[in-house]
Amino acid sequence: MKILVVGSGAREHAIAWKLASERAVTGVICAPGNPGMAEVAHCVPANPADPAAILKLVRRERVELTVVGPELPLSLGLADLFEAEGHAIVGPTRAAAALECSKAFAKAFMQRHRVPTARFEVCESAASAEAAMTDGRLGCPLVIKADGLAAGKGVVIAEDRVSALAAVRSAMTERRFGAAGERVVLEEFLVGEEASYFVLADGSAFVTLSSAQDHKRIFDDDRGPNTGGMGAFAPSPRVTPDVERRVLDDIVRPVLDGMTREGAPFRGFLYVGLMLTAEGPKVVEFNVRFGDPEAQVVLPRLDEDLSWLLGAAATRALPSRPARFRPEPHVGVVLASAGYPESAESGRPIAGIEAAARIPGALVFHAGTRQQDGQIVTAGGRVLTVVGRGSRYEEAIDVAYRAAACIRFDGMQFRRDIGRKALLV
Ligand code: AMP
Ligand code: GLY
Repeated sequence: MKILVVGSGAREHAIAWKLASERAVTGVICAPGNPGMAEVAHCVPANPADPAAILKLVRRERVELTVVGPELPLSLGLADLFEAEGHAIVGPTRAAAALECSKAFAKAFMQRHRVPTARFEVCESAASAEAAMTDGRLGCPLVIKADGLAAGKGVVIAEDRVSALAAVRSAMTERRFGAAGERVVLEEFLVGEEASYFVLADGSAFVTLSSAQDHKRIFDDDRGPNTGGMGAFAPSPRVTPDVERRVLDDIVRPVLDGMTREGAPFRGFLYVGLMLTAEGPKVVEFNVRFGDPEAQVVLPRLDEDLSWLLGAAATRALPSRPARFRPEPHVGVVLASAGYPESAESGRPIAGIEAAARIPGALVFHAGTRQQDGQIVTAGGRVLTVVGRGSRYEEAIDVAYRAAACIRFDGMQFRRDIGRKALLV
């Protein structure tokens, strides 16, 4: 089977790396990919945000199956185009991608289907948001979310009314997120530990892909601004068999059934962002694709063919069962450029990638890297994810940080506490 991976981050590198190791896979193509992906696949400079260009590539290269990493191509209707043209693809249609692309849709959908989530109010104007704040129903702190895609920056947790009003004005009046902030969702603040849970669905059946925990803030001890994710571990020890059963019964099944009943069956990776509250797991957000950096720690644990699972998801032939995983925990540390998340330096030479990858139990996945004059240099905010495997979390943490210590580039920043939370459970 010849497979196309759409995207160029460390998540897509992990997908391509796993696929390239499987016997049923005759070739992996990446659009556009990165230098790490080029070691396991053929990279083609096609733009993921141009559905017609991706379709042309699939026809030219006789690709049999396409898997989409990021949400943007899905929000632009890549899966709709592929389905109309008869090409197999793993990723939801635009209508089903609304679970991620519109927080207002996701919240109203959860309300319709009684899926546990924070209490909320959808506001179409700054005046209605101010009115909703005044009645105090949602309490304090208050969470303010831009409705549309805002690259992980559209959420503000306001400790008081003044900062809540400022967040609403910034989104709705100053249009900080453009059209994505024309509507906002106000939400009750949920207290608990966060975890993520993943399934791969084919529109009706689904395979469970276990859990992980991300580290969204830039600095140790969850301080500083939110990022795309600074590291992750899998599985999450907080997602016990009992929690998992509740996530499946109260969230995953009602969501997948609800999407089918509403005429938008969900096909692809569903990422359930959870808050494990005293009242049980509640949904913080959905993503309609795999997580980054979660994929980098989940996929190396997968103990069966990803290509088979993806093929079955695309052809509506998935069995409903848990995927098979190795028991070893994995810990992934993101190495980021100076300035991230506000900005990112680039063009800095990177040393030590090969030495890191030689450490037993370590893997290095590329994100913001490129080839320049025969060497690999930085090219973005999140540069690499260094993953460690161990028989226990301590060991996986140790392997990941020993591998990270091999790598150097100017301005490199990373968190020193990735995985520590797994030790506190
Ligand atoms: P989101 O983009 O919706 O995942 O939000 C980004 C981050 O904001 C989440 O990972 C949480 O840490 C935090 N967050 C979002 N919604 C809530 C909520 N209702 N209560 C507490 N924290 C939240
Ligand atoms: N790690 C969070 C995300 O993929 O959105």
